[in-house]
Amino acid sequence: MFTLHNGDCIPFMRSLPPKSIHLAFLDIPYGLGVADWDKSISGLEAFEIARSLLVDGGSIYATCTFHILDQVRAVMNVRRIISWCKPNLPLRKNMQDWEWSTEFVLWETIGEPRVFNKPQGEASRYYWRIHVENGFLNKDGNDHPARKPVQLLKRIISTSTNEGDVVLDPFMGSGTAGVAAVQLDRDFIGCEISAKHFPEAESRIKSAVLSPSFFTPANNRLPLDVPGSPAQQALFAAEAEVAEDGVSEITGGVKPQNV
Ligand SMILES: C[S@@+](CC[C@H](N)C(=O)[O-])C[C@H]1O[C@@H](n2cnc3c(N)ncnc32)[C@H](O)[C@@H]1O
Repeated sequence: MFTLHNGDCIPFMRSLPPKSIHLAFLDIPYGLGVADWDKSISGLEAFEIARSLLVDGGSIYATCTFHILDQVRAVMNVRRIISWCKPNLPLRKNMQDWEWSTEFVLWETIGEPRVFNKPQGEASRYYWRIHVENGFLNKDGNDHPARKPVQLLKRIISTSTNEGDVVLDPFMGSGTAGVAAVQLDRDFIGCEISAKHFPEAESRIKSAVLSPSFFTPANNRLPLDVPGSPAQQALFAAEAEVAEDGVSEITGGVKPQNV
């Protein structure tokens, strides 16, 4: 199941029940100027709220470049920092510096028992070689300029959650975490403030529900067939209450229909 919200994630996150999320992926604006929403770093206040939403043993993952590493570290209790190397980034002709080709993946865990489904072989190291996907650096296209690879999110989600767990992405952009989550049989809650990018996320996640992944088990079922977990039921009940009170409206929400 998945629920998507088109709006500001800070009040949205505050409307969610405590201890209802197993993993929060925080891909905040880096302040690199790749779009209007990226003129300066923002979203650091989301870390404290995310922490209050996590179940015992839950995880926060954040991505960032080296220039904001200190600011992100300052709002996290970092357990590990993974280097994500992007071998297919184009080299620039007139670059008078080391070519930028790495980001960091910061991991924090809350309480016990911690979920860690150890990846196999090379994938278990601190150093991940994962190619960026098409659309990245393509400022004229419809693709989100900061889209993360689905493979990156699959590694994070499959390692730190189990099937049926709930993944939250408050800065979902084009919805990559949602694509990975539903293909791995996790529930997903996503938020995106931009009216331009929200439909892209919605469309990608809906398509992912209908396209079983090569990486999921053969018995992968549509999330619509899976009865809601207690955590999910609590979330949807909370949404209904919020809407009735008129405190905040869930717009663009996509709830699966029975089929
Ligand atoms: C770095 S991008 C995320 C990219 C995403 N991980 C993907 O793979 O497409 C950050 C996103 O956060 C959104 N954003 C910024 N401030 C927000 C807020 N307060 N609430 C919700 N979304 C926000 C931006 O519009 C942008 O799409």
